Amino acid sequence: MERFTIIAPCHFGLEAVLKREITDLGYDVTAVEDGRVSFLGDAEAICRVNIHSRTAERLLISLGSFHAESFEDLFQGTKALPLEHYIPRDGRFWVAKAASVKSALFSPSDIQSVMKKAMVERMKEHYGISYFPETGAAFPMRVFIKKDTVTLGLDTSGDSLHKRGYRLLASKAPLAENLAAALIMLTPWHSDRILVDPFCGSGTIPIEAAMMAAHIAPGARRSFTAMQWEHLVPPSCWKDAKEEALEEETPEVETDIQGYDLDPAMVRIARDNAKRVGVERLIHFQARDVAQLSHPKRYGFVITNPPYGERLEEKEALPVLYSTIGERFRSLQDWSMFLITSYEQAERDLGRKADKRRKIYNGMLKTSFLQYMGAKPPRRENNER
Ligand SMILES: C[S@@+](CC[C@H](N)C(=O)[O-])C[C@H]1O[C@@H](n2cnc3c(N)ncnc32)[C@H](O)[C@@H]1O
Repeated sequence: MERFTIIAPCHFGLEAVLKREITDLGYDVTAVEDGRVSFLGDAEAICRVNIHSRTAERLLISLGSFHAESFEDLFQGTKALPLEHYIPRDGRFWVAKAASVKSALFSPSDIQSVMKKAMVERMKEHYGISYFPETGAAFPMRVFIKKDTVTLGLDTSGDSLHKRGYRLLASKAPLAENLAAALIMLTPWHSDRILVDPFCGSGTIPIEAAMMAAHIAPGARRSFTAMQWEHLVPPSCWKDAKEEALEEETPEVETDIQGYDLDPAMVRIARDNAKRVGVERLIHFQARDVAQLSHPKRYGFVITNPPYGERLEEKEALPVLYSTIGERFRSLQDWSMFLITSYEQAERDLGRKADKRRKIYNGMLKTSFLQYMGAKPPRRENNER
């Protein structure tokens, strides 16, 4: 089977988690850069990583890279790429998104239109036609230019991979599903340990944790753009990858996952979202103020995304809210806490410096992932939790 260089963009700061996922799926990572991981893989890899990755944003087949400082360079470089190998004569092709960093060329709309013209020229010469009906499958492309190096990628995913299909309704400031999954994967939490999200909103963190516990692949029930590209990815690859994912599911797993939120409407939404993905049995949702947070057992995990002051009135309430979180956390015996926030005074108000903090970009928002490590359960107490 043909091997491709596949580029997987992700949230800035989460490259190491994505790299681990790709390696665990059995593929060779060739490069890790800011916000993306590249690896080698065939059609089967395209299907398996699209279906299984919890942290990638999408998967692109790299069509090539070249240097460009002018639109003429961009035109010629694009025209030199073997597009006809990927795009059939009736294919609908366009540059869906252009991003540029520290480069002479920076206007996305100009980059997109010059590249499209160059692609049409290439395809005209190859197919010997002057009019493209574009009635066939979609071939959206994405281009990034970094320090004048242009990289063109063919988008195999379509909708971003964070769209698992379960979150029809969200909170005011929802966490992207792939970011929530990556945060959990950055902690030592495992499905036999307690997990509590006291600010669960639409339920993203508890739902992603429950999906991990039940080995539910995030993409097992959605479609991907490359499903239409039978000349590149045979339908049998999709079928096999989907079957593999469904066979791995263990919905009967026992978990201790709880999601709380002050707002009862949010709790209803979270429950509906969990139901949609089939994990409602694995999560206990309840309307509850963080001030009431308590737990009789030891060695649990708080993994959460508290309010960070999107609105002014919320901002004013943050010192009290964060000191309440700190006080409730201190009352939990031997627990660990992991908290993503862009509130800069979080550690001061929580009353304790984090053992570790990691910088993560939630879209354009710079956030910190604060990590407070609790004691590990002694081996003999493992089953008691
Ligand atoms: C940033 S949002 C969490 C979003 C969530 N991670 C998601 O993906 O939907 C913060 C949530 O905290 C809730 N909240 C605010 N004050 C609270 C309190 N005192 N106790 C519990 N929940 C609270 C809000 O209702 C909101 O849903």
